[in-house]
Amino acid sequence: MSEKDQTDKLACVSPYKRVMLKMSGEVLMGDKDFGLDSATVERVASDIKDAIELGIEVCVVVGAGNIFRGVSGAADGMDRTTADYMGMLGIVMNALALQNALENMGVNTRVQSAIRMDSICEPYIRRKAMRHMAKGRVVIFAAGTGNPYFTTDTAAALRASEMNCDVIMKGTKVDGVYDSDPKTNPDAKRYDSVSYIEVLTKDLRIMDATAISLARENNIPIVVFSVMEDGNFAKVACSQGKFTIVTNT
Ligand code: GTP
Repeated sequence: MSEKDQTDKLACVSPYKRVMLKMSGEVLMGDKDFGLDSATVERVASDIKDAIELGIEVCVVVGAGNIFRGVSGAADGMDRTTADYMGMLGIVMNALALQNALENMGVNTRVQSAIRMDSICEPYIRRKAMRHMAKGRVVIFAAGTGNPYFTTDTAAALRASEMNCDVIMKGTKVDGVYDSDPKTNPDAKRYDSVSYIEVLTKDLRIMDATAISLARENNIPIVVFSVMEDGNFAKVACSQGKFTIVTNT
């Protein structure tokens, strides 16, 4: 690391003490069509480590789109409930991969699952998760909410509320929320900030309506940023760089 980078790191103070990082499973597949890309998982883990080193408490919810794509053929025609439970198992795989990458970097990490699978990871116990975080451990919440019909965005908003997180940081492939699709419209405008109500009424599709409502009720801002850029998580957690913040105002 260059001297300049070190100076930048030390200068960066986050307004957030406790952060919920939400990522889709697709982020973890890198350029692959499905599955896990180990280089990408390591990069994301390194980004989380940067934030931990800034003194930010981090918990994580991941999706399972990367695993589910690989089985989507088999899932065709399957009932929704069964498909959702398969997705929850996929999340556990992603959580264990991320835990492995983080612990290889010396970051203490605990995985807690909403569906009990005690031989594999801890069950979700809020008070225990709080204790882990206070000790500077990363807590990865796996298996969504444990219920079908609820998305991993909703799981992130629920756990963020339970864990008293100061913010939900939604890591995506784009650097914020746009008024139209920036991939198809070169004139698409990125919002610096937007309200929960606007997100719902303009159908901006940052997260599903249940997740947005839960964040709104509990007054937890949602920061949408690109998790594809190296080191961007810690940077945006310090309110630097490009992002969109969703709040009540
Ligand atoms: P403190 O002692 O409270 O600081 O936390 P700790 O997580 O280090 O202690 P604990 O004895 O609870 O856990 C020791 C190890 O066992 C950790 O790696 C936990 O993730 C793991 N562990 C604890 N409970 C379970 C469980 O129910 N299932 C699985 N698979 N692992 C568990």
